[in-house]
Amino acid sequence: LKIGVLVSGGGTNLQALIDKIEEGYIGNCSIVTVVSSKEGVYALERAKKHGISATCIARKNYADIKEYDEALIKHFEECKVDLIVMAGFLSILGETFVQRFKGRIINIHPSLIPSFCGKGYYGIIPHQKALEYGVKVTGATVHFVELEADSGPIILQKAVYVKDDDTPETLQKRVMEEAEWEILPKAVKLISEGKISVEGRRVRIKD
Ligand code: GRF
Repeated sequence: LKIGVLVSGGGTNLQALIDKIEEGYIGNCSIVTVVSSKEGVYALERAKKHGISATCIARKNYADIKEYDEALIKHFEECKVDLIVMAGFLSILGETFVQRFKGRIINIHPSLIPSFCGKGYYGIIPHQKALEYGVKVTGATVHFVELEADSGPIILQKAVYVKDDDTPETLQKRVMEEAEWEILPKAVKLISEGKISVEGRRVRIKD
């Protein structure tokens, strides 16, 4: 399975994926390209350290979403990717991109969708909202990407308990360490093993 990873920042989810592939936890998979929407982000350094092609296709260089979609599509078609993983990607993918790779794009979101998700909920914000609301449990979700942000069929989720003394930062760190870095590689593994089937909104995992 050839994987393309979209990043915009620190790349800790990318790192988790790289590590699990290198450890052999995920077989018959290779990350053939890492693409960042922003210049100079550490995620690109992580890719380079592991001999993975790292490219910046900066969102700011494109007039609108459609042009950006087309630049990304061109790149991923050249790389012949089978699966696109959004890992801390902070830009927006438009209709053109989503239709072109429908069913082959997954995203990691730092909450239990449908809570604390959708437009404007990214990075630290879902954790701030979870603490403001006073939920006792939050977590992370891996889902297929459809046009509306964070709306596609859910593949995996993992819960993380909120602690009374949590700050958005401590909560984000624990959700990343205990949930994101586990379920993103696991979802890629399941897909690479052909164990995922989608029926409407329901994702079934063959065990
Ligand atoms: C994290 O909050 C993650 O939940 C979200 O983007 C942020 C940074 O991720 N997907 P990464 O370290 O760049 O993978």
